[in-house]
Amino acid sequence: MCGIVGYVGPRLASPLLLEGLKRLEYRGYDSAGVAIMNGKGVETRKAPGKISELERLVTAAPIHGTLGIAHTRWATHGAPNFCNAHPHLSCDNNIAVVHNGIIENGSSLRQALEDVGHTFRSETDTEVLAHLIEEFFDGNLEEAVLEALRKVEGTYGIAVVSSRDPNKIVAARKGSPLLVGLGEGEYFVASDVSAILAHTRQVIYLDDGDLAVLERDGYRIIDMQALPMTRAVNSIDWDLDMIERGGFPHFMLKEIFEQPTTIENTMRGRLLVEEGTAKLGGINLTNEELLEFDNIVITACGTSWHSALIGEFMIEELARIPVEVEYASEFRYRNPVIGPRTLCIVISQSGETADTLAAMREAQKRGARALGIVNVVGSTIARESDGGIYIHAGPEIGVASTKAFTSQVIALALFTLRLARLRGLPAEEGRPIVEALQKLPAQIKDVLDRADEIESIADEFNDAANFLYLGRGYNFPAALEGALKLKEISYIHAEGYPAAEMKHGPIALIDENMPVVFIAPHDSVFDKVVSNVQEVKARGGRVIALTSRSEPSLAGKIDYEIRVPETIDMFTPILAAVPLQLLAYYIAVKRGANVDQPRNLAKSVTVE
Ligand code: F6R
Repeated sequence: MCGIVGYVGPRLASPLLLEGLKRLEYRGYDSAGVAIMNGKGVETRKAPGKISELERLVTAAPIHGTLGIAHTRWATHGAPNFCNAHPHLSCDNNIAVVHNGIIENGSSLRQALEDVGHTFRSETDTEVLAHLIEEFFDGNLEEAVLEALRKVEGTYGIAVVSSRDPNKIVAARKGSPLLVGLGEGEYFVASDVSAILAHTRQVIYLDDGDLAVLERDGYRIIDMQALPMTRAVNSIDWDLDMIERGGFPHFMLKEIFEQPTTIENTMRGRLLVEEGTAKLGGINLTNEELLEFDNIVITACGTSWHSALIGEFMIEELARIPVEVEYASEFRYRNPVIGPRTLCIVISQSGETADTLAAMREAQKRGARALGIVNVVGSTIARESDGGIYIHAGPEIGVASTKAFTSQVIALALFTLRLARLRGLPAEEGRPIVEALQKLPAQIKDVLDRADEIESIADEFNDAANFLYLGRGYNFPAALEGALKLKEISYIHAEGYPAAEMKHGPIALIDENMPVVFIAPHDSVFDKVVSNVQEVKARGGRVIALTSRSEPSLAGKIDYEIRVPETIDMFTPILAAVPLQLLAYYIAVKRGANVDQPRNLAKSVTVE
């Protein structure tokens, strides 16, 4: 979603703010702006488009000042143009606000403010905040911000400056992530730690309802009643080079190639090889508690929802407990049957997805325990869940999720092993699963070593208008994920289907122009998939097949083959995901698409 960064300290603010914005650009990139205290007043620069546009403006007309705020936007209210770019200003231009989130009562507040004489310059809900703070301003910025926020419904992470109280940044959070960075004699505010990691690793994650005041000589955190709050300082162990491209042309490719390491990191210290199970320190559930649940609901969005489907299959197969997978965005609006005997697993790379967070809170409200499977340490879902499993995949910057997906599946496998053991899976059945897990990093490496072959297949298909992805069993979610990757970064229409469902409708689409990707490793449903391949071939479709051995039954039926190593059924979608990510990547690059920042998408969707 949008990104916020702010700075107060001895250094010039504008280079630091622009650098921070560039690191946040993956979160939103339709316009950007800065507001800096220049000694006389608030000076702003704003530009539609990429951060480089804003940088051009700031270089042409530098702003001198050591305190400022900045924003990169992903439009929710109003078109991505100059007027709607943040920061937004009060009528007298003395107050500047940057905001992530949505002010739900923005229209009524706007009307009320217009009625008392405020003039708006944008279509955004954020501008309401600037005028509302102006309305309450009486010399002290944090008091005015507190007053204003009491009138606001919705979600926000905000940073505010004012030339009438010029030595502070006021930041506040409700439902949209925000953190304070503590440097040497300087302070930062940011929506994401990557914006400030080059300058400090000491951060305080704000909680909902917190308001932080950053000044040159210190910071304070208060609550909505202005009472002082104490928040823990966290040390971030991500390196700067972990959030840089490391020689790869795109973050997405770098992250695809990181997967042998990232899945290893997800497993590290958690496998009990001899016992054929896993240990998970953070789930905060005793064996007795784990055995008390009647069912499991897994909720997530997008790619994380696809990993949830794989988790459903694994848990039901091995732990023999009913599992349902719910789109988080639908879950809380349909009065789900869920209570204290349900375990709710919440999967989110960012830990900040608004729909997923809301679904988790709904489940908790109904008495369910929530376990988070999350990548970003200290994110809201990580903090508000009752326990969880960090996937330790490191920062995922490419908008299309890749390494988080494979690590989520690993985390689900570890959880499955733990639960299944308690529910009767013998060690001798768990052991081959653990052994298969241990082989996966090297197997992924094998797939990556053949990236060139996948690139040459991409050459043949980059002008396709549509794609179908078909798989069965564990590889139906892999088909969904393959299709999602392709459509989001290449803008080719793609659909994933259970292979056998094809004959109930999508088969009508098959002709010589339709590429069909079959995920057909040698697993328990392989023979069934062969029949589906035949159905496509008989109608002239162009078949790309992911296979794991030379299969006589496929001879003459496939046009392109991508070979993946063999593993047990439950891990086949991991080995399928990697070449499908590469296929999507290479097709998108050949079409000239910006794979790291696909149009209309944002990395972390913090609005409903
Ligand atoms: C697809 C993608 C999205 C996310 C979804 C959930 O490549 O990245 O579909 O998976 O927005 O995000 P998280 O996992 O952060 O909750």
